[in-house]
Amino acid sequence: MPLTYMPGFGNDFETESLPGALPQGQNSPQRCAYGLYAEQLSGSPFTAPRGTNERSWLYRIRPSVRHTTEFTLIDRPYWKSAPHQEPDILSLGQRRWDPVPYPEGEVHFLDALRTMTVTGDVVGQVGMATHVYALTADMGDDYFFNADGELMIVPQEGALEVFTEMGIIEVAPLEIVVLPRGMMFKVSRGDGVERARGYVCENYGAKFTLPERGPIGANCLANPRDFKTPVAAYEDKEGTCLVHIKWCGAFHVTPIGHSPLDVVAWHGNYAPYKYDLRTFSPVGAILFDHPDPSIFTVLTAPSGEAGTANIDFVIFPPRWMVAEHSFRPPWYHRNIMSEFMGLIEGQYDAKEEGFVPGGMSLHNMMMPHGPDADAFEKASTVELEPVKLSDTMAFMFETRFPQMVTRYAADLETAQPDYVKCWDGIERKFDGTPEARGWSGPK
Ligand code: FE2
Repeated sequence: MPLTYMPGFGNDFETESLPGALPQGQNSPQRCAYGLYAEQLSGSPFTAPRGTNERSWLYRIRPSVRHTTEFTLIDRPYWKSAPHQEPDILSLGQRRWDPVPYPEGEVHFLDALRTMTVTGDVVGQVGMATHVYALTADMGDDYFFNADGELMIVPQEGALEVFTEMGIIEVAPLEIVVLPRGMMFKVSRGDGVERARGYVCENYGAKFTLPERGPIGANCLANPRDFKTPVAAYEDKEGTCLVHIKWCGAFHVTPIGHSPLDVVAWHGNYAPYKYDLRTFSPVGAILFDHPDPSIFTVLTAPSGEAGTANIDFVIFPPRWMVAEHSFRPPWYHRNIMSEFMGLIEGQYDAKEEGFVPGGMSLHNMMMPHGPDADAFEKASTVELEPVKLSDTMAFMFETRFPQMVTRYAADLETAQPDYVKCWDGIERKFDGTPEARGWSGPK
């Protein structure tokens, strides 16, 4: 049966999976229906301003205090948190990787996660980490919550089913799912999926929100109604379950005797959601020049400084290219922000080859980058007819902070050590004589 979702971004939702399970008119009745326990989950300090105040009320079979017992510290050597810097690994520069290989045997989401870059400070709640996963199994009786940040999962291959405390979300390539800090969940493969691969952004800072549209006005880019939050669903399961917790960069497990996904009803605005990247309405150049990529920001995680994001999640979706007398691909640039890119499908317009679906690139703070030699030649000489870029979806996790490359990323067998050679073919064209002026600007 298809899953049901509630539309809207940051709405005050309410949902119940049994009739009458959700109290009306109050949050904390003396006795809840069906013998449920009431519990508040706060995503912001109680006193945060209304615009950023987030909390939900959960009505569950057991309160969360019964979903942990003793904690055992465990090692997850591949999931790193900031600050983390390997002294012998150079994060300065430009890097690119082919897709990560699938593992032998059965590996579920949590065990499959591998950190590529980190930045900021997980305890100070600034910065982020980028991860990849290539999984071949379901989490089953393993559950997880991350106290360290919000998780954005960007599938590249294979659909996932994410069963959260607040309900079930199916997410396929070209969609994303965002799981708030502290939310219990488990990840399974979607129907008929044997293996799945994708990217994860772990946001240590303030939650992702919609960017301001400024003069664009009230519509376009990511529209609020296209964000989907699940309706309440629960597991009434007794038996051995293992809860995994990430807390201040360390991992712990705690065994319990039942499923922690036991929320029968809930209301509030602190909830997971999915978003279909194909519903993004791009706005771009309709006469000349290439606008800044911020025009394609889907979600932004703000810092305390206006316009200076802890993270911007930016996509490069299918779109028409119509700019006249313009170099249409991204220009050469250097940027105080640090850019981790992935490709979900198709081809990215600044690279003719080498950046393949499932692959990644890192253009770190102030590191120059831009079109490779072939892309430059093609874009400089092509007849500028309207062109549709189809069947393509690249994305970027962009942060104000430089990103530190992990040992896993540096040693990854699919790393492209000669990536910077993609610019080798760019030759000097300069000729200072009057005959060479030949500028072909606006007519
Ligand atoms: Fe860039």
